[in-house]
Amino acid sequence: MNGDLEAKEPEKAIRNLYIETYGCAMNFADSEVVASIMSDKGFRTTQNLAEADVVFMNTCSIRDNAEAHVWGRIKEMKPYKRSNPGLIIGVLGCMAERLKTQFLEKEQIIDIVVGPDAYRDIPQLITQVEEGQKAVNVLLSREETYAEITPVRLSSNGVTAFISIMRGCDNMCSFCVVPFTRGRERSRASESILKEARDLYEVGYKEVTLLGQNVDSYREEDADGNVICNFAQLLEKVAQIASDLRIRFSSSHPKDITDEVLYTIKKYDNICNYIHYPIQSGNSRVLKLMNRTYDREWLEMRLAKIREVLPDCGISTDIIAGFCSETEEEHQDTLSLFKEAKFNFAFMYQYSERPGTLAARRYADDVPVDVKHRRLSEIIAIQSKNSIELNHLEIGKTHIVLIEGFSKRSEDDLRGRNDKSQVVIFPREHYQKGQYVKVLIERVTQTSLIGKVVEEVKF
Ligand code: SAM
Ligand code: SF4
Ligand code: F3S
Repeated sequence: MNGDLEAKEPEKAIRNLYIETYGCAMNFADSEVVASIMSDKGFRTTQNLAEADVVFMNTCSIRDNAEAHVWGRIKEMKPYKRSNPGLIIGVLGCMAERLKTQFLEKEQIIDIVVGPDAYRDIPQLITQVEEGQKAVNVLLSREETYAEITPVRLSSNGVTAFISIMRGCDNMCSFCVVPFTRGRERSRASESILKEARDLYEVGYKEVTLLGQNVDSYREEDADGNVICNFAQLLEKVAQIASDLRIRFSSSHPKDITDEVLYTIKKYDNICNYIHYPIQSGNSRVLKLMNRTYDREWLEMRLAKIREVLPDCGISTDIIAGFCSETEEEHQDTLSLFKEAKFNFAFMYQYSERPGTLAARRYADDVPVDVKHRRLSEIIAIQSKNSIELNHLEIGKTHIVLIEGFSKRSEDDLRGRNDKSQVVIFPREHYQKGQYVKVLIERVTQTSLIGKVVEEVKF
C-alpha cells in the first residue's frame, strides 16, 4: 500500500536540508535519523543555511539557557524567511515536545513542530506545510526505536559513530525534564544494533558509542517478557564484531551499573576502560530529594568496585550545584566527594528549574543565583586540579590511541583518544585517521596528553 503511494508521487528535484542540533549525543544521533528520513524524500543535507529549502532545529530543554539559545536562534532565522518565503522552518526534539504548539503561537516563522518519537511523520508534515497549513506531531510512543533506519552520518570524521540502543527514561529524577520530553524507556532490538555496528565497521569506522539515558537498564525481551539480552550481553556481542572496533557507552546510572558489565569491560580489550558515571551530588539528603535512589555510601562503594575490577578505568561525571534547599555543608559533601573520587572529567552545571518536573512542583528553587555560581566555581576548581594531576600521572607512559583527525590547533598534529577517553595530541608524520598508534606521553595540559608515536598498532 505504502509502496503504491510512493510510486505515484511525482519525482521532485533534490532539495536542501539544513539541520542544527543542540543538547546531548542522543539528539545528535536523532538528527542523523532525521537526515536519513529526509534523504529518502529527496533532501540532501547542506552546511549552508542560505541555500536551505528546509531548516530544522533539533532542540534541548535540559536547562533554561539551552532553551533561551534556541529562541535567540529562531530570531536570527527571520531574515532568511523574509528573503525566501518558501523556506520551511521546523523545531524538533525535546523543546518541541515540551512546548508543543506554543512555538506556533509565539513565533510566526515556525511551520513545523515535531517531537522525538514522531520523526517518521516528517515527510507528511512537510506536505501539509506545502499545502499552506502549520504542522505538529508531538505524540510520544512506547515502541519507537527507529531500529531499521540507517542514520546519515552528519559531520562525521569517518572513524567514530554513535548508535542509539534505547530511548526515553523511566527514572523520574526530580530535577530532570527528559522523561517528559522523551517518554517511556524502551530498548532497541539487539540484532539491529549489531547490524548497524557491523555496517559501520565495514565502511571503515573504528569506534562506536552505544547511547542511552541509562544504558544499564537496556533489556531486550522475548514475547513473554523474559530478558534475552541485557546490557552486559549486548556489550559482549558488539565487542565480538572485530577486535579493532572500539566500544564506548554512555550514560551509566550509578544505581544500575552491574558487576557483570564491569567484568565484561575487563574481558574485552576493545571495550574502553571508561565509564561516564553521573553522580549529581555528594550528599545523601540532596540525592534523596533528587530521587536518584542511591546515597553517598552507595556511590563510594560502587566507585571502589569499579576501581577494584578496572584499576585503570577513566571515570567522568555530571554534577548539579545549588539544587533546591542544598546547604553549605551539603555542598561541602560534593566537594569532598570530588576530592576523593578524582574523576578524569566532569560536566558541571548550576541547577536550573524545569517546569513540570517533580522538583519544580514540590521544592523551592531557593539557592540564590550568586551562591549557585560560587558553588559551581568551587567544584570546577577542584575538578581542574584533579584533571591536571591525573593527566600528569600519564607522563612517561604509552597509550594506544585511535586517530580521529587533525588537532584543533594545527594540521601538523593529529588528535585521538586513548581508551580512558583522554585526548592525545602528537605530530602528524605519515599517520592517518582511523589508524591505531602507540603514543609515548611527554607533557600534558588540563585537557590533553601530548607526545609522539613510538609504534603503529596492528590487530
Ligand atoms: N541520564 C543521565 C543520568 O542519569 O545521569 C543524564 C542525562 S541529562 C541529559 C545530562 C545532565 O544534565 C544530567 O546528568 C544533569 O547533571 C544535568 N541536568 C539535568 N537536569 C538539570 C537541571 N534541571 N539543571 C541543571 N542540570 C541538569
Ligand atoms: Fe534525567 Fe534521571 Fe533519566 Fe538521567 S536518569 S535522563 S537525569 S530522569
Ligand atoms: Fe538530550 Fe537535552 Fe533532550 S540533554 S534528551 S536533548 S533535553
